[in-house]
Amino acid sequence: MANEQEKEAAGRAAAKLVRDGEVVGLGTGSTAYFAVVALGERVKAGLKMVGIPTSVQTGELARAVGIRLTTLDEHPEIDITIDGADEVDPKLNLIKGGGGALLREKVIATASKKMVVVADSGKIVSVLGKFPLPVEVISFARTVVEKKIVSLGASPKLRTQPDGSAYITDNGNQILDCSFGKIADPAALALTLSNTPGIVEHGLFIGLAKLALVGRGDRVEELRP
Ligand code: A5P
Repeated sequence: MANEQEKEAAGRAAAKLVRDGEVVGLGTGSTAYFAVVALGERVKAGLKMVGIPTSVQTGELARAVGIRLTTLDEHPEIDITIDGADEVDPKLNLIKGGGGALLREKVIATASKKMVVVADSGKIVSVLGKFPLPVEVISFARTVVEKKIVSLGASPKLRTQPDGSAYITDNGNQILDCSFGKIADPAALALTLSNTPGIVEHGLFIGLAKLALVGRGDRVEELRP
């Protein structure tokens, strides 16, 4: 419950950063949810903005709360993106993708002038890697990618749905959740994964976030890299 309050405080604080006329990247997950809801409230109160969602789920939420949506084709440059994270290190490197939206999240974060992370205090770590790193793969390549990930020292596990079938992303791919333990050099691992054919994207977000708003008790802390 404390986490929920921290998430809501962080999400609402981030929604206040959006200014009239901006194009806003809308993140996915239970913390970004609060930011989208708060933005919907601001839109009802007169804020002019358009949103680009990072997932089908967030698109549905945004529409339901009255946010007008647009696309990257219409707005290839995003003013500000607000998104959650599974882990945040002191340089604001992130692990993302617990909610399965990592590919669109990374495209949108990369197309943004500013990415603001919203998180509860439990997401802050000194070294990334306790949270299994989500890696999105095309199913054709899954076995060879698994072998590669094992050779890098991690154990990959295919993400499944409650009925046991493979979880499928909004982009029609599968996800391997890869337990690396402490990731000593996240930038190097990110590069290795990005250079592996069959991996569509991975959940290491290196140097993308410029500000984190972290709910801690009844306060919201601002962290910068
Ligand atoms: C979605 O794919 C993720 O990257 C989320 O942003 C991340 O998992 C954080 O989600 P919560 O805010 O629900 O913890």
